[in-house]
Amino acid sequence: MSGGAATRPLARIGGTTGERRLPPQPAAGVRNTRRRSLVRVLLTGAAGFIGAHIHRKLRDAGHEVVGIDLMLAAAHGGEAEPPYGVERVDIRDPEGLDTCLRGVDAVCHQAAVVGAGVSAQDAPAYASHNDLGTAVLLAAMDRARCRHLVLASSMVVYGEGSYRNSLGAAAVPPSRRIADLDDGRFDHLDAAGQPLAWDPVDEDAPLRPRSLYAAGKLAQENYAAAWAFATGSTVTALRYHNVYGDHMPRDTPYSGVAAIFRSMLEAGESPRVFEDGCQARDFVHVSDVAAANLAALERPLDGFVPLNIASGQPITIGEVATVLAAAHGGKAPVVTGEYRAGDVRHIVASPERARRALDFTAAVAPAAGLADFASAPLRAVVGRGAPAWR
Ligand SMILES: NC(=O)c1ccc[n+]([C@@H]2O[C@H](COP(=O)([O-])OP(=O)(O)OC[C@H]3O[C@@H](n4cnc5c(N)ncnc54)[C@H](O)[C@@H]3O)[C@@H](O)[C@H]2O)c1
Repeated sequence: MSGGAATRPLARIGGTTGERRLPPQPAAGVRNTRRRSLVRVLLTGAAGFIGAHIHRKLRDAGHEVVGIDLMLAAAHGGEAEPPYGVERVDIRDPEGLDTCLRGVDAVCHQAAVVGAGVSAQDAPAYASHNDLGTAVLLAAMDRARCRHLVLASSMVVYGEGSYRNSLGAAAVPPSRRIADLDDGRFDHLDAAGQPLAWDPVDEDAPLRPRSLYAAGKLAQENYAAAWAFATGSTVTALRYHNVYGDHMPRDTPYSGVAAIFRSMLEAGESPRVFEDGCQARDFVHVSDVAAANLAALERPLDGFVPLNIASGQPITIGEVATVLAAAHGGKAPVVTGEYRAGDVRHIVASPERARRALDFTAAVAPAAGLADFASAPLRAVVGRGAPAWR
């Protein structure tokens, strides 16, 4: 049976969604405003992996959705038509946005060029779609007097994760040296030569983007924060960690690692695990990301508020490959010792602030969600080429 995500319930963290929840309390510096009933939401990137899940979630919750997407060839292949309920609009087109924003109460902004990028040649595409696009959207929202934005941000804005040394003190390591990576020394070491352990990253951690994509995602946040301040609007920036789930794009140079492992298994190959496989990450199911967006749209917070959206259950990349291979019935993973120079050793999220501000707790445990993902449908069409920006 394929498409497990659609046909059987996923395992829930703690067995139920309710047991471990505390009543919502504002996080430090975060004040909840009253839950608001929405009428009409503009959803950008509505044909994308995450956007399509949000689209369904919002409609199921009774909201009216205006879905727009440019149908970038890099994401959807050449000549892709927008799916039912989505209109082809470029967020960099002010007139197109003016029309779409009529009567809209809030914007859920998912449209972006994604992925770590292949080379510096991708920089204009990130700047154009992600940053110019966000700036054009913010200006259009101001014209339409639309004051509530939920922005798809990313854990990549942090760059490195947080660490502790062998004495338990916070440590801020420098970037890893290529010579160390070449020699298979992947961990950051403390003064005693012991590996630094990861610590959960909260939203006050320094923002040190390490890739062109990350620089663009941080610029989106900065524009949105300044817009919120200048116009008295509210922006909730949801910093997604590693998102996975059904209809995730297949393996391209811009895909996430879970889709890359899935594609290797489908091709009858072993998932190739880089470094020593011990890199810690947080994998959050796309249904939880959609739920977080719904919560953020229904509960505007004061000013600009960034929130980690994560499962709160860290997992190593080696474990991800092992769970996927076992559930797929494919070849066991191989740990290759290869590396990507831009990758950080560990990055693990603290989901606390989102829990307190939005009453959001991920419902899908990564072990069960990834096992389900091993047979879930992927995006039908493979993205084509580098993202165009003109
Ligand atoms: N997938 C992840 O793991 C992840 C993690 C962190 C953050 N995010 C963020 O989540 C959002 C959605 O990502 P996704 O994984 O669904 O990617 P995706 O590529 O599946 O969807 C993005 C959509 O945006 C559209 N788009 C791009 N430029 C556009 C433009 N100028 N005008 C209108 N539409 C445009 C694309 O056609 C695509 O359908 C992005 O903002 C991304 O940065 C994703």
